[in-house]
Amino acid sequence: MNAAVMPPLRELEPEVQQRIDECVERWSDQEGNLIMILHEIQNDHGYVPREASLLLAERTGIPLARIYEVLTFYHYFRLVPQGKHNITVCNGTACYLKGSARLVAELEDRLGIKEGETTPDRCFHLETVRCIGCCGMAPAVVVDKNTVGRVAPVDIAPMIERIRIQEETQP
Ligand code: FES
Repeated sequence: MNAAVMPPLRELEPEVQQRIDECVERWSDQEGNLIMILHEIQNDHGYVPREASLLLAERTGIPLARIYEVLTFYHYFRLVPQGKHNITVCNGTACYLKGSARLVAELEDRLGIKEGETTPDRCFHLETVRCIGCCGMAPAVVVDKNTVGRVAPVDIAPMIERIRIQEETQP
C-alpha cells in the first residue's frame, strides 16, 4: 500500500474502543477469532483503521505484525477508507483483452491516484477486480453499484465529470 494515502493516526472514540472490546470478548474462545474480529471492525468502519489494529494488539496480546499479516493476506480487508464513489474496473481475461488496462490508465491519470488508492478528498476510490460475470459487456466498469459495459477510454472523463457535478449540486 502507498504510505502517502494512509490516514493519520487518531484517538479512537470510547464507543469504538468499547465495540472492539466487546468483539474481543465475544470471539475470545473461538478458533479463527482474529479474522472474525477484523471482519466486525471492517463492517463497522468500512475498513480496518490502524488505530483499531493497535488497540486489538494491546487487548489480545496478538503481535501487530501478525494482525497485519492477516490483513494483507486476505484481499477482502481494506486498510484505508474507500472513497464516496467507488470505481471498479474489471481486469478479467475478457475485459483485459478488450482494453481494460487502458481504462485503468485513463482513470489513474484523470483522478491522480493509482489503482487501490483513494483521492485525497476521499471522493473517488479506484480498484480492479477479476471477472464480474458480465464478459459479454467487456470491458466492464462498476461505478458505485452500476455496471457499465463496453467502456472506452473516452468515456472516462464524462463519467468522472458526471459524479463531480452530482457532488456539487447535491444539497
Ligand atoms: S472478464 Fe470482465 S466481466 Fe468477465
